[in-house]
Amino acid sequence: MTQDPNARAEIEPTAVGANAAESGERQLGDGTSDAYGSHEVNVGDLDFRTLVEHGHTASELDPDAPAVLTVDNLKMYFPVKSSGLVRRTIGHVQAVDGISFEVPQGGSIGLVGESGCGKSTTGRLITRLYKPTGGSMMFDGHDLAKLSNREMKPLRRDVQMIFQDPYTSLNPRHTVGTIVGAPLEVHNVVPKNKVIPRVQELLEIVGLNPEHYNRYPNEFSGGQRQRIGIARALTLNPKVLVADEPVSALDVSIQAQVINLLQDIQSEFDVAFLFIAHDLAIVRHFCPEIAVMYLGKIVEIGDRETIYGKPHHPYTQALLSAVPDVKQAAVGGRRERIRLEGDVPSPINPPSGCRFRTRCQFAQEICAKVEPPLLQIGKRHKVACHFAGELGAHPATPVTTELLGVDDQGSPVPGAVPSNTQLTIPGYEKTWYDLRSKQTTGV
Ligand SMILES: Nc1ncnc2c1ncn2[C@@H]1O[C@H](COP(=O)(O)OP(=O)(O)OP(=O)(O)O)[C@@H](O)[C@H]1O
Ligand code: SF4
Ligand SMILES: [Mg+2]
Repeated sequence: MTQDPNARAEIEPTAVGANAAESGERQLGDGTSDAYGSHEVNVGDLDFRTLVEHGHTASELDPDAPAVLTVDNLKMYFPVKSSGLVRRTIGHVQAVDGISFEVPQGGSIGLVGESGCGKSTTGRLITRLYKPTGGSMMFDGHDLAKLSNREMKPLRRDVQMIFQDPYTSLNPRHTVGTIVGAPLEVHNVVPKNKVIPRVQELLEIVGLNPEHYNRYPNEFSGGQRQRIGIARALTLNPKVLVADEPVSALDVSIQAQVINLLQDIQSEFDVAFLFIAHDLAIVRHFCPEIAVMYLGKIVEIGDRETIYGKPHHPYTQALLSAVPDVKQAAVGGRRERIRLEGDVPSPINPPSGCRFRTRCQFAQEICAKVEPPLLQIGKRHKVACHFAGELGAHPATPVTTELLGVDDQGSPVPGAVPSNTQLTIPGYEKTWYDLRSKQTTGV
């Protein structure tokens, strides 16, 4: 087996579990940012215990919920221009590169990954703040990716966004009544004389004093401003809400309150969430299903128990190794901290084959030659890795060769027929590829 010379990673044991059990607090060793350099995942804001103590119970998965939004092979390439008088396109930032997933009706799917992996771009594509370079986004019989801005107008009310920063996302010169009421007027939802009563109703729903509709954003705290942003997003009764880091700008004590509010809203209005966050503890609480992104691709997706309990992708394993697990600490569990060194490569010129290979300790020759497909390996579990396996049990030989018609080094096998089945699709099939038997199996 040839080890990838670029692979730089090591496993370091830490005593997070034992220490945390003694002190009753989270212990992050020497801090929270060493594993990922400037691209660290934020684990310092809110832990699972805080949410359990101060929040609602975790949101549950409805496996039978139909998809309200189906994203298939979605791409967003931003052009990179040369400097000088004649600005030519000299390359593209492959911010999102062929991702597929479903957003279940009234449910929530979480998007996690390091800074710059394409989470916000995905959210902005779904709300059509950007027009995609390729792929489709099926919603209510329409492909949002193909519609013109004019054709999008009636559909915009159904897909709304909650922004990260409640300080910059609200116009300081407008009153709360104008901010929350504007979409009602633009879309002619209610007669003019009904706008203020509807705004007041919305303010009440999000826990604000309805009499404060004529105040300005700077008269509210950060948490209250985020509630205004949520009221604005709810104005048009959306079916899908993209929440891009909705609590990361807030104090820890306020975060749980806003998460509670979002959960209440979800059950009350049956709205589906694409929930984007750095904080893996919050995502675990809010999202029964989670997609992990790396450099514009989804590398693993599955239900909460699988992603947090039995991740199979080396990148997911590294991300989760940095999350303090209070429950595990309470029983004296011991965590392995996986250190990833080096920066995330440039999305302008990503590595060939598997994009994670320059930082993966398991990378071999095939990883540089062949891109691993996002393969369904369980009832609700997909992973994109030639050596997919639980931590400590990654296979010695690639698991994907027969499906792809290549040998262990990734070279095409003469006469071999690659699998006919489309390997990367949105949602889940009833059958999947069993890693042990290398056979298709199902329930
Ligand atoms: N309008 C744009 N023009 C050019 N490049 C962009 C644009 N928006 C985003 N990018 C690039 O696309 C990549 C993905 O960015 P994106 O904002 O989606 O990441 P992210 O996962 O949301 O990161 P963060 O966690 O820091 O918010 C980055 O390399 C970013 O620099
Ligand atoms: S395919 Fe798997 S083992 Fe190979 S580099 Fe990618 S993540 Fe690592
Ligand atoms: Mg972002």
